[in-house]
Amino acid sequence: MVTLQKPFSQACENNKQPILSVLAPRLATCRHLLEIGSGTGQHAVHFASAMPHLVWQTSDLPQNHDAIEQWLEDYPGTNLRAPLALDVTHPEWPIEETDAVFTANTFHIISWEAVLSLLEGVARLLPPGGQLIVYGPFNEEGAFTSDSNAAFDQSLRQQAPHRGIRNRQTVAAEAQDRGLMLNTTLELPANNRCLVFVRQ
Ligand SMILES: C[S@@+](CC[C@H](N)C(=O)[O-])C[C@H]1O[C@@H](n2cnc3c(N)ncnc32)[C@H](O)[C@@H]1O
Repeated sequence: MVTLQKPFSQACENNKQPILSVLAPRLATCRHLLEIGSGTGQHAVHFASAMPHLVWQTSDLPQNHDAIEQWLEDYPGTNLRAPLALDVTHPEWPIEETDAVFTANTFHIISWEAVLSLLEGVARLLPPGGQLIVYGPFNEEGAFTSDSNAAFDQSLRQQAPHRGIRNRQTVAAEAQDRGLMLNTTLELPANNRCLVFVRQ
């Protein structure tokens, strides 16, 4: 018999606890959260199990759904939802409302135009006071925060010219233009950050 191995990301294993320490207190009264770019699904399983009071809705491009579904199969709870096919660049999103949005390691992968589409789509979805929490590497005032982030940015741009680490202040200004105010910035291990935006 062949045992299929679930897709696995060591980075997710390393960062899931630090991210949870940001999410848990901020989502204490949240009832429904949309995750954009769920990837392997590891984060979804970990966070949904740690926050059983909320429904965790996964989403990604359709080609990643098999991976997410494999992780979801073993999930014992009832608050984790099968992935929606959500491409942030598409004008129509397959969801109309949610209390909060989380996304990890997407802003440096998707194009800058896609980042703007994501901000627009999230602003449409969230009610006033709703939070968008973004995890990943960000530059500060146009500068890399570490040598390893500079090397990472170079490798991203070699993979695809539209990829690259975004500047936190530029993201904040674009988000503010769309009604999402950057409320809190937290430094996390491995030169990553969590940006917490609040819908005005
Ligand atoms: C580096 S992975 C991050 C996955 C996971 N969140 C994590 O932290 O490990 C980037 C994710 O963004 C998704 N993605 C890329 N383009 C997208 C788009 N246009 N709309 C939505 N998701 C997209 C990819 O499919 C992938 O799951």
